[in-house]
This record gives sequence, C-alpha cells and structure tokens, in this order.
Amino acid sequence: MSTTFITTTAGAPWPSNEDSKSAGPRGPLLLENYQLLEKLAHQNRERIPERTVHAKGSGAYGTFTVTRDITEYSCASVFAEIGKATPMLARFSTVAGERGAADAERDVRGFALKFYTDDGNWDLVGNNTPVFFVRDPMKFPDFIHTQKRHPRTNMRSAAAMWDFWSLSPESLHQVTILFSDRGLPQGFRFMNGYGSHTYSLWNARRERFWVKFHFKTQQGHRFWTNDEAKEIVGRSRETSQEDLFTAIEGGDFPRWTVCIQVMAEHEAEQVGFNPFDVTKVWPHKDYPLIEVGVMELNHNPENYFAEIEQASFSPSNIVPGIGFSPDKMLQGRIFAYADAHRYRVGTHYEALPVNRPRVAVRNYHMDGPMRFDAPKATDAYYEPNSVHGPVDAPFAIEPPLRVSGEATYYEHRGDGDDFAQPRALYALFDDAQKERFHGNVAAAMDGVPEHIIERQLGLFAKVDPAIAKGIRGKLAMPEPVGPATATAAG
Ligand code: NDP
Ligand code: HEM
Repeated sequence: MSTTFITTTAGAPWPSNEDSKSAGPRGPLLLENYQLLEKLAHQNRERIPERTVHAKGSGAYGTFTVTRDITEYSCASVFAEIGKATPMLARFSTVAGERGAADAERDVRGFALKFYTDDGNWDLVGNNTPVFFVRDPMKFPDFIHTQKRHPRTNMRSAAAMWDFWSLSPESLHQVTILFSDRGLPQGFRFMNGYGSHTYSLWNARRERFWVKFHFKTQQGHRFWTNDEAKEIVGRSRETSQEDLFTAIEGGDFPRWTVCIQVMAEHEAEQVGFNPFDVTKVWPHKDYPLIEVGVMELNHNPENYFAEIEQASFSPSNIVPGIGFSPDKMLQGRIFAYADAHRYRVGTHYEALPVNRPRVAVRNYHMDGPMRFDAPKATDAYYEPNSVHGPVDAPFAIEPPLRVSGEATYYEHRGDGDDFAQPRALYALFDDAQKERFHGNVAAAMDGVPEHIIERQLGLFAKVDPAIAKGIRGKLAMPEPVGPATATAAG
C-alpha cells in the first residue's frame, strides 16, 4: 500500500504535523511556519452557528417507497406509482437544548425529512407531535425565548415556560402531549412523526386536496419515565444518537408506515373547526388514515458535520403536486428556514452535497461566498434572454386558491375551544398514564410562582377537573379558596 502524505490545503506536501518550526530547539516559533498558522486558523473556524432551535440532532439516509396509488390526489413524482422508491434524508432532534444537550430530556422531537425527488427536493419538516404550542408565527420567537436560557440567570426558567403557557391556552394540547409518556421517547426509532400542518396535494386534473402526513413507527412506542431518564442522562448524553446509529450500523433498519389524511378542498369551509390551525388534529373517525408507503432508514452518514450539521431543511421546499395551505404558522415557516440557512450555513447552502437536489438546478441567482458550482461558460446570466437560457415552468403552478376577507390583525385566540382535543387525548390515557402525566407536570412546575401555577391549573381544569386535581395532589397544593383563577383568555 502506498503511503499518503499530508498536504496543505493548497495540495503541497506538509513536512511535519507534530513539530512546529522554531528558531533553535527551544523556540521561539517562526512566522513563516504557515502550516501551523493554517492549522490554528482552521480550528478557529470549525464551528458554524448551531440551529437556533433543534440544535441537538441525529440523522440518517433512507428510502421512501410507495405502497398505494394516490395519483387521484397528487401528481407529485414521489407518489408516481406503487413500488417507486425515492432516496431521502432524516434528521431527528430535540428542540430546546444546545448542541451538547442530553438526548433523554423531556421535549418535543423534530422529525425533518428531505426527499430527493425527480422534481427536486421536497422537505417535510415536522415533529413527533401532530400539533404545536402556538397557532400564529408572531408568537413563535417569544415561545422559544421561554424554552431557552433566561437572559440574566443564564438558566432555563420554568417560571417563564408556565407563564407563557398559562397565558396561551392554545398550547394546552401540545403541553398535554409533552408531559404524557410520548414527551420522553427512548430514542428516535420509537416515536411517530407528523407533518403537523395541513399541506395540500394537487392532481393531474388540477384538483386540490388538503392533507395531513403521519409517520407511524414500526418499532413501537417506547418511553422513559422522568426517574429513568435522570439515571440514563447520568450515564450518557447521547442515547438517541447511539440507538439510531448502532441500529442502522447493525442492519436493523428502522421503518415508519407513511399515512395521509385527506380533506376535499371545499370541505375546509364546512368542518366545525379550523383545519388550518396547527393546534388541532383532524379526528381519525372523520378523516381516516390512508396508508401510502413506507420509510426506511438504512445508511448512516459518513461525516456528521458535513451531512447532518449542514443539512438544511425548509418547509418552503415543495415540488409540483404538493403545496402549502393557509395555515398561518406554515406561512411564517416558509420564510424562516431558508433565511436561517443563509445565515447559519451560507448563501449557497443548497449546493452542498447533502442539500443538493438529485436533478439539475437552473436559475439566475449568481455569486456570493462559496460559489463553487456556478454554471460553466454560459451567456444566460440574466432573464429574459435570447441565448436559450432556462425558462418558466408553467406546469409547476398550483391550482388557484380562492381567498376572502379583509386584511387586518385577526385575534389569534381562534375559535375559543382549546380544550376539547386535549380532553379527548387525556381520555385515551389509562390510569397509570394519567398518574405519570400529573407527576410530570408537577415536577416541571418546581419553583414556579404560585399565581402562575394556579392560572395553569385553571386551564387544565377546563380540559378536565381531574387533571387539575391530580396535579394539585402531586404538588401538595390546597384547593384555592373562592372562584377559579383561570384568567387567560379562552
Ligand atoms: P383516535 O383514538 O383515533 O386516535 C388517537 C391517537 O392518539 C392515535 O393516533 C395514537 O397514536 C395517539 N396517542 C395515543 N397516546 C398518545 C399520547 N400520549 N400522545 C400523543 N398521541 C397519542 O382519536 P382521534 O383521532 O379522535 O384523536 C383523539 C386525540 O388523540 C386527539 O385529540 C389528539 O390529542 C390525539 N391524536 C390524534 C391524532 C389524529 O391525527 N387524529 C394523531 C395523534 C394524536 P398511535 O396510533 O400511534 O398509538
Ligand atoms: C428548526 C423556525 C415552527 C419543526 C427551526 C429553525 C428555525 C425554525 C429558524 C432552525 C433552522 C436551521 O437553522 O436549520 C420556526 C418558526 C416556526 C417554527 C419561525 C413557527 C412560525 C415549527 C413547527 C415545527 C417545526 C410547527 C413542526 C411541525 C422544526 C424542526 C427543525 C426546526 C424539525 C429542525 C430541522 C432540522 O433538523 O434541521 N425552526 N419553526 N418548527 N423546526 Fe421550526
């Protein structure tokens, strides 16, 4: 086997990687020892900003395979025929912790997917929960501030979290899921994924359908209790990473059954709830799950930084046959992600191998940092042109969407019923699950001022008085004297 020599980044042989060049055996070092300068300078640039949320994550490649023909709903190439397999990338994450955070923390898990389809990349950037804490993107940065460190103490603040939640009744549904068993999965293999928002599908006849995406784990749901997690975090901070990496490395490929719920376009105005409200699910009995395929993860990345830390997912990445919906949160996200990537990864982040579509990319964007894949020898660097540059793709225009109403700031409190769906969820819990749920909430309220706890218990009481009673019991708090204290709107 021939020896491979170290080189500088300019490709020149590097004489010594362990000894600096010095004037005499005891130094000082010479400024001309540029290999040392280059090495130190590179180390200074080894990090990019971590994601502002979902900073700690794990990822793997795999395949999405169609098992049912849904061309009646969508002309997207990814759904073209039974048996069609599309390569894809998944990145799972926790939301609040920094890049070094422990995996076994109670938190929502991110479930971000990039499908390298024949018509470009389709990204579905979801969570392991079917709903979210807020329904207006205007509230997202404030919500995230409550999940991150307090500006003065530099510690997480339970008071801030419960203050925000207790003043935002639309969060009740997601809060109920977060403090249920599903809020602390044993690993990424043991949880469902959801697109969460309502998206749209459109078919070759240019008919639109509203759709929800579900990814049902075939590994079964597994969770840790708070006490188990404490012990596990003491042993390892990388349990989800280790579980996913080791399973795939050993050939035990995790799989999810991919399902959709479908609503005809005109039905959206007839149902008794706002189908574009991400704090709500579509009940299964009215919108049964339709099984459409299977997702399998079967290939670990070769280099974590290059392929997972630099992976850039965005809900704005859609393809013909799949579209957005009026969901206000989704609308906000369509802007936020690509903007984050241009800052975090760089202007030409889409050209990196992990992000690059598996089809030709043609547009009139031009230069900027790291422009390494510019089109070769072209005169078509502006539009319109008479040199046969790329032209519009009218077949990619989605069916027109009828909109109505007056432009103003609409009250985000919605239809006022933030209670029925968490109530339906609580009713699904067995007694032991209810007991753990009460205990998990109580534990997370440690140190929270009493008036905030009372306000939150007032909200829980509207979901089911048994919840408020159960949590109060765990907190050893007496029943309040006088009228109920639920003062948050709703
Ligand atoms: P169903 O009884 O048909 O569905 C209940 C759903 O709840 C199942 O999808 C189940 O997932 C899921 N589930 C069970 N335990 C938990 C938990 N601790 N946290 C989150 N999800 C859980 O009823 P409905 O469709 O009428 O929904 C009733 C409630 O179930 C909703 O209000 C919502 O809170 C929750 N839910 C509903 C979903 C939907 O899309 N309709 C999706 C997920 C949750 P699984 O089958 O994987 O065990
Ligand atoms: C990551 C913004 C709501 C799921 C991010 C990032 C931003 C962001 C800026 C970091 C992106 C990066 O640097 O790579 C927002 C805004 C929201 C919102 C503004 C609301 C208006 C949601 C919702 C979901 C979600 C509702 C799930 C349904 C994710 C996931 C990631 C992420 C999974 C990590 C993606 C990855 O693995 O790289 N979000 N988010 N977010 N968000 Fe959101």
